[in-house]
Amino acid sequence: LVASFQPQRLAGRRVVITAGPTFEPIDPVRGITNRSSGKMGYAIARAAAEAGARVDLISGPTALPVPWGVTRTDVETAAQMRAAVLAAVHGANLFVAVAAVADWRPAVPHAEKIKRRTNGPPAIDFTENPDILAEVAALPGGPYCVGFAAETQHLEAHAQAKRRSKNVPLIVGNLGHLTFGKDDNEIVLFDAAGAHPLPAGDKLTLARVLVAEIARRLDASSS
Ligand code: CTP
Ligand code: CA
Repeated sequence: LVASFQPQRLAGRRVVITAGPTFEPIDPVRGITNRSSGKMGYAIARAAAEAGARVDLISGPTALPVPWGVTRTDVETAAQMRAAVLAAVHGANLFVAVAAVADWRPAVPHAEKIKRRTNGPPAIDFTENPDILAEVAALPGGPYCVGFAAETQHLEAHAQAKRRSKNVPLIVGNLGHLTFGKDDNEIVLFDAAGAHPLPAGDKLTLARVLVAEIARRLDASSS
């Protein structure tokens, strides 16, 4: 087992990770969601557990099994994800926000199924969801925070703008539409010093490299 030859870089650390999409109901049978298989977040959860951390994975709807040694909390909406994260994050050393959180939700979900042939397509009012990563990053004495940015263009500009506006030390960027649902990924780290590409690889290999890199930064920040 590869893991047994790896140093336990996160031994004694508590890590909270969000993964997958969120699902925001329109009515009992419909909703809006974001594209995310959850594979990258689950791979990071697995790699963090291999590195010796106690891992809480807060997951939106996915078709993935719980990684060995990881505690999973299942949620559906961004509001539920936020509540689960805030409950788990107290005393945690590291928060990694991998989830593709829906930015908006229908303001008032219909209690009953909307019938197709009543008045044509319904007009849906949306309201903004809370920014979970920004909120955790602003907690006094909160964990070291790592965000993700899946972009379709201008990766560096968008990732760096997110890093600054959410006030987190590290953003992991990828050109998401190329990798959705795939087993491989290509990521670039963005910090205050600039851009640091990681070698392309399958998501688990990348997750292990990323977790080792995050652990190094976490040690540097807490010493
Ligand atoms: N995130 C979050 N809560 C939200 C939206 C995003 O925690 N409501 C986190 C994601 O998990 C990710 C990071 O913030 O780690 C960036 O998400 P992204 O959707 O790329 O950024 P947004 O700020 O929502 O900007 P936009 O969607 O307009 O690109
Ligand atoms: Ca978003």
